[in-house]
Amino acid sequence: MVKRILGIGLVMAVTTGLVTVSAQQSEPTPEQLAAQATETRQGLFKVLSYNLGAISGMARGTVEFDAAIAERNANVIATLAPLIPEMFAANDTRSFDVETEALPIIWDRMDEFQEKANNLVNGANTFAAIARTGDRNAILGGIRAFGGNCGSCHETFRVD
Ligand code: HEC
Repeated sequence: MVKRILGIGLVMAVTTGLVTVSAQQSEPTPEQLAAQATETRQGLFKVLSYNLGAISGMARGTVEFDAAIAERNANVIATLAPLIPEMFAANDTRSFDVETEALPIIWDRMDEFQEKANNLVNGANTFAAIARTGDRNAILGGIRAFGGNCGSCHETFRVD
């Protein structure tokens, strides 16, 4: 008896869950879309940070030096960076109450924002070319300039 009631309860819970999920999938509200877009771009930044983190760890000595990983991570960053302006252009979240550190001026100065992302692509490609040489000193010496492209955009377009 207890088992049956538990069973029915479980079926109901699962069914309710499915109904909730499908309702959300068919008609996300503008607020939900803005929240999703914000989470997606923040996820992108987390992945960028993961990739740069290993490289700057090599400079700090907390990550074992590995030129091949430095080169790979720089290539990943060069590939992903164009998605930054793409995602912001696709979803203007200015008028929504989302949890974000993105400054509203991003959408007023999209050309400049795009340029900062281009600088990161170029910096990542330059660094990847240095990493390909395997020259440890040159690689460690190139990290600051590479990472500076992240900070340069944050200075202008992110909450302090
Ligand atoms: C073109 C501008 C731009 C560039 C280039 C850029 N960022 Fe950002 N970054 C932002 C903005 C804007 C936010 C705030 C996003 C938000 O909260 O919606 C952000 C947020 C972040 C966050 C916080 C993410 C979170 O958890 O909410 C991290 C970490 C980060 N950036 C790391 C990096 C790293 C590392 C690089 C370089 C490899 C980089 N960013 C390059 C603009 C940029």
